[in-house]
Amino acid sequence: TFPKQVKIVEVGPRDGLQNEKNIVPTPVKIKLIDMLSEAGLPVVEATSFVSPKWVPQMADHAEVLKGIQKFPGVNYPVLTPNFKGFQAAVAAGAKEVAIFGAASELFTKKNINCSIDESLQRFDEILKAARAAGISVRGYVSCVLGCPYEGKISPAKVAEVTKKLYSMGCYEISLGDTIGVGTPGAMKDMLSAVLQEVPVTALAVHCHDTYGQALANTLTALQMGVSVMDSSVAGLGGCPYAQGASGNLATEDLVYMLAGLGIHTGVNLQKLLEAGAFICQALNRRTNSKVAQATCKL
Ligand code: HMG
Ligand code: MG
Repeated sequence: TFPKQVKIVEVGPRDGLQNEKNIVPTPVKIKLIDMLSEAGLPVVEATSFVSPKWVPQMADHAEVLKGIQKFPGVNYPVLTPNFKGFQAAVAAGAKEVAIFGAASELFTKKNINCSIDESLQRFDEILKAARAAGISVRGYVSCVLGCPYEGKISPAKVAEVTKKLYSMGCYEISLGDTIGVGTPGAMKDMLSAVLQEVPVTALAVHCHDTYGQALANTLTALQMGVSVMDSSVAGLGGCPYAQGASGNLATEDLVYMLAGLGIHTGVNLQKLLEAGAFICQALNRRTNSKVAQATCKL
């Protein structure tokens, strides 16, 4: 049996744009986020407070966060890799942050330049300060179905890191198939291991679509009771430290599937399609969403 309701976490403005080579003008980012809020998405990940030397596209993080319309009832989490990023995010008005770790040592090193243990210490510092400031913290675990540097990752390792983030105080942990190599069987095995350590209500899935498996993998998680799903408008996305990783599951395709299953998301597909068309035009790019491609021809 499926959950009656699914919360979609829109990651397009962050995951979708972070990998773009040409700097997207700040007003375009702001308009995209406002259109996504308008479309009824309950969570729109807005930007990253990471080093501009590492990810130049996110250098305008404070301007973006300050410039967006804050729709009532919509959360706008931002990525924070360390305490410096956390402080900058709070100063810019963030009410929710996301820390991002991985189940792979080598990916952690390439992505945030430290070991898994060091990353957990940094996150603990953020979680303590966040608790004191009344800020919610979401967690990510990357490479849950494979790593660009280590290859196979064991479900036990994913469960271990996820459990640590949960015990440290993350209210929700998003399990990322960073390079989109997973298939439904692998998703099932991985989730089964994680579910022994963390309640299903605290889990989300975050599937990249490199091998065309994102919708199938997300459906598998849904069948196992996960009711929070990350996706990206127009299927934009990628990680600068995971070469070859393509976009996320397209939000339009996820919304279409969930609507067909009679599962409530609160998202207006028409307005979402408009947001997708807007950003694709700004990037001069064809949409990755099958639903957007299909409805265009009608
Ligand atoms: P580092 O070089 O080890 O940092 O990078 P450092 O502490 O040695 O500082 C070096 C310089 O960066 C200093 O500046 C710091 O002030 C500055 P300098 O003295 O040289 O002028 N700095 C910062 N500036 C702004 N904001 C900060 C910050 N921290 C230090 N927060 C660091 C370590 C974590 C900063 C770096 O590795 C980094 O920024 N990494 C981010 C990488 C990233 O954004 N990756 C993509 C997001 S993760 C993802 O996409 C996966 C996900 O979607 C899930 C999935 O798909 O699996 C979430
Ligand atoms: Mg991602």
